[in-house]
Amino acid sequence: MKYFLDSSDVNEVEYAFTAFGIDGVTTNPRQLAVIGKKEAVVVRELGAARHGFSSSQEFPISIEVDPNLTKWEDICREARKIVQEGPCFVVKIPCTEEGLIAARRLEEEGIRTNVTLVFSRSQALAVARLGAKFVSPFVGWKENFGEDTASYLQDIVETYRNYSYDTEIIVAAVRSGKVLADAARMGADIVTCSLEVMKNSVYHPFTDYGLRFFTEAWNAVEAME
Ligand code: E4P
Repeated sequence: MKYFLDSSDVNEVEYAFTAFGIDGVTTNPRQLAVIGKKEAVVVRELGAARHGFSSSQEFPISIEVDPNLTKWEDICREARKIVQEGPCFVVKIPCTEEGLIAARRLEEEGIRTNVTLVFSRSQALAVARLGAKFVSPFVGWKENFGEDTASYLQDIVETYRNYSYDTEIIVAAVRSGKVLADAARMGADIVTCSLEVMKNSVYHPFTDYGLRFFTEAWNAVEAME
């Protein structure tokens, strides 16, 4: 399963590339507000990132279209501008009727799309049928409202397998290592999460405990005459 970093911060992206070998990036307007940078600035920064990953289609960086745009023609116009910034860029489009029209048109033009804000199995089905490159079913937002997301995700993965759809599933808004591991067990293609979730997923207090214990044992033996 691929790991994408959910971040608009180029320093975080570069760190996660080195530390976790991330395979791509997803960005969204909430992150722009957190770091206080306009999308055009972030696109420029990511496009010029070290390691050269932005010069390849193999490292997809999803950039969300202006959420004020509700008509498919306007969404398409903005999407065409975004992808001119480099081969790595993929356009993130909301799962509305107009958004789906835009995604279908853009895919026909060879522009890769990531249909986002997906909260139901029928939305995910519509995205696969139009041939989007990626679909982003959100997990954390549903769980915040007490929903069980295990069967929702499992059903999407199974449905896609039933028809051999090419759309890749990005499990999004992941809040824990548990969801990350569950997504892999179900056979999702990709998980996108924050750097904090990624770091927590490789941390275990027993590892620290064990390391202290082994260090003491090692040092005791080394101190022997
Ligand atoms: C995914 O592409 C989204 O950017 C992301 O997962 C949204 O969730 P969050 O901002 O609530 O984490």
